[in-house]
Amino acid sequence: MDEITYWVNGEFVPASRAVMPLNNRGYRLGDGVFDTERTFNGKLFKLDTHLERLGRSLKMLRIDLGMSLEELGRCAEETVERNLHRLEHDGDWWVTQTIHRGDGGNPLNPAPPFISIIVEPLAFARFAPYYTKGAHLVIPSGRSSARTGMDPKLKAVSRLAMVLADLETKRMDEDAWSLVLDEEGNLAEVFYGNLFLVREGAIRTPTPRAILEGITRATTIGLAREAGYEVIEQNLQPYDLYTADEAFITTTSYCILPVSELNGAPIGEAVPGPVTQRLTEAWNGVAGLDVAEQMRRYAGLAGPTRAAQPITAAR
Ligand SMILES: Cc1ncc(COP(=O)(O)O)c(C=O)c1O
Repeated sequence: MDEITYWVNGEFVPASRAVMPLNNRGYRLGDGVFDTERTFNGKLFKLDTHLERLGRSLKMLRIDLGMSLEELGRCAEETVERNLHRLEHDGDWWVTQTIHRGDGGNPLNPAPPFISIIVEPLAFARFAPYYTKGAHLVIPSGRSSARTGMDPKLKAVSRLAMVLADLETKRMDEDAWSLVLDEEGNLAEVFYGNLFLVREGAIRTPTPRAILEGITRATTIGLAREAGYEVIEQNLQPYDLYTADEAFITTTSYCILPVSELNGAPIGEAVPGPVTQRLTEAWNGVAGLDVAEQMRRYAGLAGPTRAAQPITAAR
């Protein structure tokens, strides 16, 4: 099987030959932005929406891409096409566009940016078990803050605040996921994902103020409303999650995962709860495949078969 192909500054290169100069500002200063989408059956999902969010991140950092977002999108599509012969072997992919500001001491007057598009098989083995056992969330001491220059809405390459939070969480329970609070003590988001809970007949989720505005979150809100659920964006505290009927988290790769515990306390009666189950089915409809089944199959948990999924349209 050929190596995965990346796109680096306009060239398609085998992954092992992709190089970045060590004086790169993204590498040295975390001065860059990125966005990651996934494929379903080898087809990029909501690429345009990811490019729009990337455009906002670039605007916030005043980085000139030097090409249009549409052109970058076409490069992402071509990178996927060049890897399509690997689809059955790899399953589906994360596709990440990263833009590092060009070299130079003055961020307003840099050299051209360093741009890459990489394709990576999803972390099937990492995510697969949580569809049935649910995620155990732990609240670390680090806070998500919209008051700093690093507003969580900015998808910056520096993820150090989240890494610190995760180190603390994993010291307590290696299997746990970090759930950070905002400066006021409201629930914010999980490590690389957004949080929802079900209480008093409604699906509730933190307001977008101190979170990354997840594209999976927005899709899930749409699916929930289509299914007739009331969805409320509001300030929520740990109390609301401790006493919730059920909870779930969303992100690009795993789409939707049930939550089973908060700081060691069980959440809800069943994992997944009925609302999570219904939204999981709605997600499978959007994806054109059974997302959890694919995770298990490629994780090797459900047998050796790697037959391709029947292909239906991804929306
Ligand atoms: C901090 C954070 N929150 C939420 C998300 C979920 O966003 P999306 O659904 O667009 O993948 C991510 C994704 O990586 C993230 O890094």
